[in-house]
Amino acid sequence: MTLARLAHALETGALDLSYDARVLLIEPKPDADIGALPTRDVTIQQNFKPTFDLFKAMGVTVNTDAKSPADVVHITLPRSRELARGLIAQAEMTAPGGRIIVDGAKTDGIDAMLKFVKARVTIEGQLSKAHGKVFWFDAGTSFQDCALPDPGPAADGWITQPGVFSADGPDPGSFALVDALPKSIKGRVADLGGGWGFLTRHLLDIPGVIHIDMVEADHRAVVCAELNLNDDRVAVHWADATKWGTPGTLDWVVMNPPFHTSRTPDASLGQDFIRSAARLLKPKGSLLMVANRHLPYETTLASSFVQVQELDGDNRFKILQADQPRAPGKPARAKRR
Ligand SMILES: C[S@@+](CC[C@H](N)C(=O)[O-])C[C@H]1O[C@@H](n2cnc3c(N)ncnc32)[C@H](O)[C@@H]1O
Repeated sequence: MTLARLAHALETGALDLSYDARVLLIEPKPDADIGALPTRDVTIQQNFKPTFDLFKAMGVTVNTDAKSPADVVHITLPRSRELARGLIAQAEMTAPGGRIIVDGAKTDGIDAMLKFVKARVTIEGQLSKAHGKVFWFDAGTSFQDCALPDPGPAADGWITQPGVFSADGPDPGSFALVDALPKSIKGRVADLGGGWGFLTRHLLDIPGVIHIDMVEADHRAVVCAELNLNDDRVAVHWADATKWGTPGTLDWVVMNPPFHTSRTPDASLGQDFIRSAARLLKPKGSLLMVANRHLPYETTLASSFVQVQELDGDNRFKILQADQPRAPGKPARAKRR
C-alpha cells in the first residue's frame, strides 16, 4: 500500500496535518490509501490515465494540472529527476507558505532528491520505511529555476518533455520497428502506447494509411504527440489502450508496448496490449509489434491470433507480426496427435 510512509509519519506524530488542510497529492500510485489522511479536502494531480480513471471512479477530484491553492502538497517521487524537480517547483507555486512532502522509493532516487533539496532549504522532518523515505519542508521560492520546461525539441527535433518515455530521443526498439514497417500497411491503423508520436509519424509516410488512432496513457506524452503529429489523418487519444476503442474496426495495429511498471519489468502489460489489439482488429486485421528479445509474448500471440511470425530481429529485439485475431471466446484448438 503506498502512502504507507506518510501514514506512518502521521500516526507517530512526526508529521502533523490539520483536519481542514487542503491537500494536493501529485501522481500518487493506484494503491495510495487516501483514507489515511486526516482531511477530506483532497485533490489529485494524475498524468497516467488508468490511475486518473481509478481515483475519479472513487469520487476524488482529479486533474492533470492542479491550479487551485493548497496547504499541503505530497509528491510521489517519479523516476525522472528533472520531472521530480519540476513537480517540487510546481508545489511551491501551489502551496505558498505551506508544506511540501516528498515521498519515494530508494530505487527511484529518494536519497539523491533529499540531498538536492537539503542543499537549498531546511528539512523539517524525515522518516525511512519500506525501502524508501518521506521528508518534508516549508514551501518558499527556492526551486523556481527547476520548473518543468514546456514541451520542446529533443534529439532530431522531436518534441518531448522530461518524464515521458524516451524523452532524449527515439527508442532503439521503435527504430527497429520503423525499419521493418511493410509498405502493405493500409486502411485504419492504431498505434497503442504511442508515446510522443515517433511510430505514428513514420506510419503517416505509408501511402495506403487512411487514418491513425494514436492511443497513449501519459498525458505529458500526449501533449508532445499533438505537437509532433499535426496531420488531419491522426487522432491522438489520452486513453488506456487496454480498454480504448471499438472492437473489430481496425485494419492494423502497430506498437511498441510498455514493459515496465516503475523500474520492474512487467510482461503482463504487453500481453494485455496484444489482447487489446486482437479485440480492436477486423477479422483479417494484423498486428505488428517490437519487443525486447527476452519478453514472453509468443503464447499470448498464439492464443489471440491464427498466424504468428517473426518478421525480423536481432539479439536485442524481435519484430513480430500476428494475423487474423481469434474471435473472443474461441481459443486456439489443441493440435491432434
Ligand atoms: C515502450 S513505450 C513506446 C512509446 C512509443 N510508441 C515509442 O515508440 O517511442 C510504451 C508507451 O506505452 C504507454 N503506456 C503504458 N501503459 C499504457 C496504457 N495502459 N495505455 C496506453 N498507453 C500506455 C507509456 O506511457 C509509453 O509511452
